Amino acid sequence: MAEIILLENAAATQAFGVKLGRTLPENTVILLKGDLGAGKTTLTQGIGLGLGITEAIASPTFTLVNEYHSGRIPLYHLDLYRLEPAQVDSLYPETYWEGEECDPGLTVIEWSERLPYLPESYYQIELRHTQNDQRQAVISAVNVKQPLFVL
Ligand SMILES: Nc1ncnc2c1ncn2[C@@H]1O[C@H](COP(=O)(O)OP(=O)(O)O)[C@@H](O)[C@H]1O
Ligand SMILES: [Mg+2]
Repeated sequence: MAEIILLENAAATQAFGVKLGRTLPENTVILLKGDLGAGKTTLTQGIGLGLGITEAIASPTFTLVNEYHSGRIPLYHLDLYRLEPAQVDSLYPETYWEGEECDPGLTVIEWSERLPYLPESYYQIELRHTQNDQRQAVISAVNVKQPLFVL
């Protein structure tokens, strides 16, 4: 079952991210979907603010993964835009959500459509452009114990 919220402007997208960053527990994965410019990085920047991360959150389009350790829990920010599924495989994205080799944190994945396999449990947020250049966030939760109470 999906829930839909309207994000009227970039500030609303960021504010939604702040709520997520303040409230989500460690070992959470957020899969972000949506076209270029849909607001995935904007949302992630809000998540970083909500976690209390002090560094600027840049798009990891070239680095593929950025790790931030200055917040409440670690943030692992992946962007799979430039990758084919086979290349994603060799990035071992599960390293971030399995939490065995990394400190358990919040894993946010832009262009999660490119994942060749999915985590056991995750939130999915799809950002869609509306006709008047606002955004809709279509949110679903797969195998997570609690729904997103921040909505
Ligand atoms: N809810 C919104 N309504 C209108 N514009 C938005 C909204 N959210 C983000 N934006 C704008 O859209 C662009 C999104 O860019 P970005 O976050 O880098 O997208 P993506 O990472 O999905 O490619 C930014 O210019 C941002 O200011
Ligand atoms: Mg982006």
